[in-house]
Amino acid sequence: MGTARQPSSADCWRDLSRFAVAADHEAASRAGAEILARGGNAVDAAVATSFTLAVVRPQSCGLGGSGFMLIHRMGHGPIALDFRETAPAAALRERYLGENGRPIPGATRFGGGAVAAPSQVQGLLHALERYGSGRVSRRDVIAPAIRVAAEPLIADRHVCRASREICDELTADPDFARRFSELYSRFTRDGKPLDPGDAVDRRDMVETLTIIAERGIDGVRDGRLADAMVQAAQQSGGALRHADLREYQVRERDPIVTRFGPFEVIGMPPPSSGGAVTAQVLQVLALHAAEHGAWRANDPASAHLLVEAIKHAFADRASRLGDDAEDVRRDVAWMTSQQRARQVLSAFDPTRTRPTDFYGKLATPEDSGTSHYCVVDGEGNAVSGTDTVNLTFGSLILVPGTGIILNNEIDDFVIDPETPNAFGLRESPRNLFSPGRRPLSSMSPAIVLRDGRAELIAGASGGPRIISATLETILYAIVCGMDLDDAVAAPRLHHQWLPDEIWLSRTTSRDVVAGLLDRGHTVRWYPGTGGHVQAIGRRGDGWRAVCDPDKGGRPAGE
Ligand code: DON
Repeated sequence: MGTARQPSSADCWRDLSRFAVAADHEAASRAGAEILARGGNAVDAAVATSFTLAVVRPQSCGLGGSGFMLIHRMGHGPIALDFRETAPAAALRERYLGENGRPIPGATRFGGGAVAAPSQVQGLLHALERYGSGRVSRRDVIAPAIRVAAEPLIADRHVCRASREICDELTADPDFARRFSELYSRFTRDGKPLDPGDAVDRRDMVETLTIIAERGIDGVRDGRLADAMVQAAQQSGGALRHADLREYQVRERDPIVTRFGPFEVIGMPPPSSGGAVTAQVLQVLALHAAEHGAWRANDPASAHLLVEAIKHAFADRASRLGDDAEDVRRDVAWMTSQQRARQVLSAFDPTRTRPTDFYGKLATPEDSGTSHYCVVDGEGNAVSGTDTVNLTFGSLILVPGTGIILNNEIDDFVIDPETPNAFGLRESPRNLFSPGRRPLSSMSPAIVLRDGRAELIAGASGGPRIISATLETILYAIVCGMDLDDAVAAPRLHHQWLPDEIWLSRTTSRDVVAGLLDRGHTVRWYPGTGGHVQAIGRRGDGWRAVCDPDKGGRPAGE
């Protein structure tokens, strides 16, 4: 079943004059806006937003997961914070392989073996301590989340969809109701999906968040929360240990910066693949525009060019990217070079697409688990942040007495290069599972600058569709000049090199569909949504903040 992009509706965007927050749940946008109104900066507000998302979007993100955060501070260079989970030091790749040497189905997706060391709290508190204003305290920024956790969470469409997904999983394995009873008893009604308006108790998060407010990072390094997470993962067969939590290091990385006309597009470097893929595609489009005119929305030739550029970039992603390392850094430099953009463009045939192998070779043989938010403050500072537990409700482990859901980020690693992950992505040994490493990610927080000022802040959830959805929002807004709410609601296309097919929104025009078919592409309707974008764009002297109409977020600000 394909899902159409929803038309933009008035309550998913707002024009604001001083500051703005766009998260995929209204309570989280409001938490950020409250901190801004109290004099906090964009980072303080981002941290408040993300802690609140942990309460209200447990299917998507939270304290048992991880994230990336891009920060633009007026007058300073941009900062990329990497707080991606690491594979537990004691985990072994063999644990995921059956006797036939092939991956055991589900081993990287469900239960303790799927869990990488959670690092969300470490990342958020690192951001707050280093880049917060100092005008609001740790307790202040966590307080809105605690208030929200004290009230029942009212199931909205997205929570119900997630509940339906885990009920469907019961059909495949009825034993899940026993193995993951904490989660099923909270997020289903006796194995039946929640209905809109049903209340979910999140009060155990009150104590969890209070411990973090009082103890800071130590609150997840040892003591009750660390014990509970380690015990829950181990009882479910995982290798998570206290040392993984204690020794976790947040990394500050150099963002990928691409000049694009009068703009600078700031993207996330490895272990994200989003910045490198986006930079390569934008450079190809810029070179093409110089000779043939600007990229256009709703135009078959432009759609074909975009797909071709994306196919090359995803093929390069598959064969070259993984956790940050010397060889990966070298290949990112190559992927994002002018020379590579020229190669891609000289291989471009405006009349047809090519077979998979033309774009690359691997030397060896649906949307829920992520949430994106954007913040701008009254001084022009901006944050673009993406948080994840990977798939819907992560590993399905709800840690008893804490409200924390443990991620299943191990599935983002390659266990066997011939076996695609849950998103159908194939990758090389550069992303091979290994203790202590961070899995390659598609999360693509982005900030577009013009003359040193934030012009557009964007990002998405939706696995690899994150990259295309964020990229297309940027193109629609800054190249085609669409209003930002229209840019977020516009039809999207996605290609990830393998499998060799384009996913299209059902609202894609007949001309574009026909133009792509004529050029030899295989097209399919999205088997779900084309990702969920949150974005804030400059508008006159203020901002327009937009939440993807399909996930149901609402912006907040003044
Ligand atoms: O980091 C990644 O690429 C994935 N863990 C993202 C998963 C995701 O976006 C799920 N859907 N919303």
